[in-house]
Amino acid sequence: MRLPRFDPFTDAFRAAPDAAYSAYRRAAAVHWGKSPATRARGAWYVFDTDLVRHVLRDPAFGRETHRGKQTGKSTARDIGRGPVAAPPLSSVIDNWVMFRDPPVHTRLRSVLSEALRRERVETWRTDCRRLADDHAAAAGAMPVFDLVSDYAVPYAAAVIGLVVGLPATDGRCLAETAAPISRLLDFHPAPGVQPAAASAIQTMTRYLTDRWEQSDGAASATLLSALRAATSEGRCSIREAIHSLILLVATGQATLGNLVINAASCLLMHPDQLAALAADQATPERAIEETLRFESPVQFAGRVVLDETRVGGHRFNRGDLVLCALGAVNRDPAATDDADVFRLDRDRFRHQSFGGGIHACVGVNLARMAGAEAIRALAPILANRTAAWPQRPWRELALFRARTRLDLHRPCAAASRLPAMCPAHDQEPERSA
Ligand code: HEM
Repeated sequence: MRLPRFDPFTDAFRAAPDAAYSAYRRAAAVHWGKSPATRARGAWYVFDTDLVRHVLRDPAFGRETHRGKQTGKSTARDIGRGPVAAPPLSSVIDNWVMFRDPPVHTRLRSVLSEALRRERVETWRTDCRRLADDHAAAAGAMPVFDLVSDYAVPYAAAVIGLVVGLPATDGRCLAETAAPISRLLDFHPAPGVQPAAASAIQTMTRYLTDRWEQSDGAASATLLSALRAATSEGRCSIREAIHSLILLVATGQATLGNLVINAASCLLMHPDQLAALAADQATPERAIEETLRFESPVQFAGRVVLDETRVGGHRFNRGDLVLCALGAVNRDPAATDDADVFRLDRDRFRHQSFGGGIHACVGVNLARMAGAEAIRALAPILANRTAAWPQRPWRELALFRARTRLDLHRPCAAASRLPAMCPAHDQEPERSA
């Protein structure tokens, strides 16, 4: 049977991406896709584990949008920013490591990797644990709380504020400003995303510039301090540092929040695994690794073809957009046993959720540490809650995957006697495994 053009911008795809991935992966390793839902041109989608690994690491593929020429089916500018961004938005994005190739990428990347290195991230663990405990206690005190807006989003905002070195009272405001910026990272941002992001970037630039000027320059374990040190050593300009902080705030909040939402949702859908966690037969770290594989918060890693090449029997032209389907390779039965089963007792968690090559996620240590702390604090509460699974719960972006709402009810006495009387107990979750 001939498959329709691959399109990750539909409700059907969002409801069951694993079914779509499996059908396309079985048909071929590479597909051309184009969505009528976006004005953007199409892209190559890669579903095969080895080919994804190859594309992410081969220097024939890059990220710099202005280097690609419109010679192929898609333009390089499709990647991550839609139509060409007008200044000053484009000048901010030009300082974002994820949209640069070497040598600028190498220089900015070394500053960020150093700032987010494992030893520094470990110094934030105690504070992250306290934040997780506080947020879990506040959510746990409510008879009904929304996993997304009452726990994951404020926790992620608090963690990012802490590690950047911002006042704790600015967390909520920071989360609201970061949200439109993170939408800009989708590979075909919807109309209206760019103006909203431009305005949010202006607000955040002013805010972070004020914080930069107010900080006294004394060394501390914050990102602000690390980037300040990098500017004094001449490794990057103040402008590049502030723009990089905007990227870290927006990316970090969105992905960390989504990771926590996905981990908690997976555990609720698999009560035996939640019970294993509660009984200390599994660790929160394992829950995070299996979530990254099973319900990856970032579904695609994008590249632009810099030099014409062949992949999976197709000719990729200079300027073509290539999207590596991380969510698909993470469920590849050829790479993982029981790939469609959520299991915390795996010998090895094989996934490519952090991408690969020179652009592999720079926030990986923070994501793992802060994600595990969030689940450690939340697991005992999850064990005593019932989820009200909504009908259309997924974020509208193709890049990021997470529910937009999940109400968790304290079991009511009436429900245990008469389940039909309690609306929270009426709906079955749509389980993918
Ligand atoms: C929570 C789970 C997270 C996931 C699943 C994730 C995933 C990813 C992926 C797939 C990429 C692209 C890799 C590629 O193109 O090969 C990426 C890049 C990046 N991530 Fe993450 N990320 C997460 C958390 C974070 C956090 C917490 C931060 C920062 C505080 C962060 C900052 C970045 C940056 C700056 C890049 C661009 C790196 C470059 O181009 O060199 N990420 N991430």
